[in-house]
Amino acid sequence: MEVRTRKIKAEDYQIRGGRMKKCKKNRKNVKKITLANQLSLKKLLSLSSNSENNSQIMKKECVLVCGGAGYIGSHTTVELINAGYDVVVVDNFSNSDISAVENVRKITGAEIPCIEADCCDMEAFRKVFEKYDFNSAIHFAASKAVGESVQKPMMYYRNNLTSLMNLIDLMREFGRQNIVFSSSCTVYGEPDKQPVTELTPRKPATSPYGNTKQISEDFLRDSVAAYEGLKSIALRYFNPIGAHPSALIGELPRGVPQNLVPYVTQTAAGIRECLSIFGDDYNTPDGSCIRDYIDVTDLAKAHVAAINRMVEGKSEERYEVFNVGTGRGVSVLELVNKFQEVNNVKLNYKIAPRRAGDIIAIWADPTRANTVLGWKAERTIEETLASAWAWEKHLRGIK
Ligand code: NAD
Ligand code: WQD
Repeated sequence: MEVRTRKIKAEDYQIRGGRMKKCKKNRKNVKKITLANQLSLKKLLSLSSNSENNSQIMKKECVLVCGGAGYIGSHTTVELINAGYDVVVVDNFSNSDISAVENVRKITGAEIPCIEADCCDMEAFRKVFEKYDFNSAIHFAASKAVGESVQKPMMYYRNNLTSLMNLIDLMREFGRQNIVFSSSCTVYGEPDKQPVTELTPRKPATSPYGNTKQISEDFLRDSVAAYEGLKSIALRYFNPIGAHPSALIGELPRGVPQNLVPYVTQTAAGIRECLSIFGDDYNTPDGSCIRDYIDVTDLAKAHVAAINRMVEGKSEERYEVFNVGTGRGVSVLELVNKFQEVNNVKLNYKIAPRRAGDIIAIWADPTRANTVLGWKAERTIEETLASAWAWEKHLRGIK
């Protein structure tokens, strides 16, 4: 079998309003890139005399990662490249930085095309489809702060829904097939029974953000039913935490962190004075809330499993949903204690009043993801909390 290697030169581009121009803003960071990333090119060349391996390589394809400079998108890009895929990133950097993509390039040795464009800008987004040949896309490109969504609902509906609608439309227009969607356990609200399975009923959303996740799932379900060429997997993440073992990429919260683990690591680093534990009088064993904290690298691998499933034609339904969690409920107090133990740091914390709108307890039944998707969370909470601290120390230059 003949293996053709294409070496196409391109550069990082900024696309706005349908016009494509070299990305001036990031010019100092821009490198020449090839479509075939170095890693897969090396593999391709070294395996070119082995037809069995060739057929493996031939199966691999390019994945468009919308929001690939963000927290989960950057980790997923690493795992896609580790699995042999080529990746194209599109991001408007509304909640991220080009440095995340540069660090993904460092970790993987791959030269990943990164286009600065807003997925809500249809003409700019179309250029990405015209330029790159991928059959699968992952949609991370959304705003995600629950509190902000209550203050600015239209911003959330516009960004989260328009970016997904544009992706669906363009996938159809260009005859591309597979969409993985970032959904959330927030769709279950306060569940009546633990752990939650994919059949646990969704509850009315308690925030505009949560509502965008429910509506987005519905968009995908209905689109896939109507358009034969399309397949989709919605992954319902539980609470993603931690950072890549290299400590080169991780979560970059803007301003005061709203989520528990970034608040914990910033308190340990001395940036925040004291962590408030929101409530110790809930009906749980130690009185604090319970969540299912999923390591971000494990979560990234769930996306690879979802892409593999669709690329290999293994989907049982054209729209499928999977819980992505560990199956283990951990309380806020347990997490705080483990963080101190594992990292040998003392954390300044106090018990504070309950936070309005908090779910008391939720954790996943991940059986369907384990058995059907063939994915399982592997990292322990101790490893994950160590990686979160290593990332914070790296960011702040703490030895
Ligand atoms: P993030 O903010 O770090 O990443 C999102 C990325 O998308 C950012 O780089 C941002 O700049 C980009 N983006 C946003 N709108 C865009 C647009 N219109 N066009 C192009 N790029 C755009 O967030 P994350 O934590 O990595 O979350 C990724 C996805 O997972 C989101 O859809 C989020 O709702 C979902 N999710 C996150 C969590 C969590 O706790 N982090 C939990 C469940 C679901
Ligand atoms: C976890 C626990 C807090 C901060 C949110 C979104 C959800 C999903 C994940 C996207 C809770 C407690 C927190 C602090 C604390 N995102 N806490 N002190 O609320 O489970 O979920 O992120 O889809 O949609 O709602 O995550 O990290 O904010 O809180 O005691 O300073 O930590 O009360 O019990 P949450 P979180």
